[in-house]
Amino acid sequence: MRRALHCWTLVKLLGVSAVLVLSVHVLLRTKDVPRSPRPLTDAEFALVSPLTYRFIHNQPAVCARSPAPFLLFLVPVSPQEAEARGAVRRTWSSPPSPPSPPSPHEETLTTLTLFFMGVTEDRGQVSSLQEESTRHSDIIQMDFLDTYQNLTVKTVMMMNWASTFCPNASYVMKVDADIFVNVFFLLPWLRNSPRHDFITGSVIGDGRPRRDRNSKWSLTEDQFPEDRFPPYVSGAGYVLSADLAARIAWASRFVRVVPLEDVYVGLCLRVLGVRPSYALAGFTLRNLFEIRNLEYDRCVFSRLIIVNGFKPGKLLRAWQDFSTRHNSC
Ligand SMILES: *[C@@H]1O[C@H](CO)[C@@H](O)[C@H](O)[C@H]1NC(C)=O
Ligand SMILES: *[C@@H]1O[C@H](CO)[C@@H](O)[C@H](O)[C@H]1NC(C)=O
Repeated sequence: MRRALHCWTLVKLLGVSAVLVLSVHVLLRTKDVPRSPRPLTDAEFALVSPLTYRFIHNQPAVCARSPAPFLLFLVPVSPQEAEARGAVRRTWSSPPSPPSPPSPHEETLTTLTLFFMGVTEDRGQVSSLQEESTRHSDIIQMDFLDTYQNLTVKTVMMMNWASTFCPNASYVMKVDADIFVNVFFLLPWLRNSPRHDFITGSVIGDGRPRRDRNSKWSLTEDQFPEDRFPPYVSGAGYVLSADLAARIAWASRFVRVVPLEDVYVGLCLRVLGVRPSYALAGFTLRNLFEIRNLEYDRCVFSRLIIVNGFKPGKLLRAWQDFSTRHNSC
């Protein structure tokens, strides 16, 4: 009897300490989520709210097919970058044939590519853009001013578009038009990646705001008072599970706009408690999302997902070689 009582006390003690350890653990874990999200004022949210802007070109049905695309490419461009769009259409956005699934039960790795833009003052653009949109059905344009400072607005627009018009895609990739994308590597690699709350790219874990006024990336203390950024992925090209596009769009009502769009996405991820995943090559631990410029080398590129710095002509030349001979490395 006494012995049983002792045992019971021990069990209770153990139970209490387990709860204590657990709560300390939870406290430590939530430490890097600094404050509970406070909704923005209406005026602050209006900057990124989809209700503020009107579509000039949209493709509401382009994704509503069965099955939905496996990967949706969202490419921010400005209206005048027709040549860059042409190069993307003729290179990685239309690989010779989608790699076929290893078994009939697996999904086919299809992609869909759409270009997102605001408006410019140049009226001459209007009719050529109309023609391009009719011809390719891949232009989404909203009536905000297309400037570098408004890239964050464009990014939130892309996340909203994906969650509204393409909710059944498996993955979404935000990628600039001057990026080389090795879809032959990327698509099979993604097949085995997480489908929820997943975002990967070139992770920047120790970013800090620049305060010098002369920098293109400068932020005032008023725009961003903290002295560190939360982890984020470089904006050149990153991949996320499609559910996370909708969650980022939702989180945007809690995050004040900063003109650095990739940092902004990082701030939305912090609200959601999602950490970006590193994408490193097995042996070398080399970053698969290469955000520096590299000279084209077929066999080096065949082991990377993206490479930065490809003007349209260079992209077309590299692709001509890569698309047919990447397998021979
Ligand atoms: C997504 O899938 C659901 C269920 O299969 C379907 O009802 C819906 O119409 C699809 N939505 C789009 C936009 O394709
Ligand atoms: C962003 O777009 C809005 C809406 O067109 C415009 O009023 C604003 O001036 C733009 N901001 C910048 C910094 O370009």
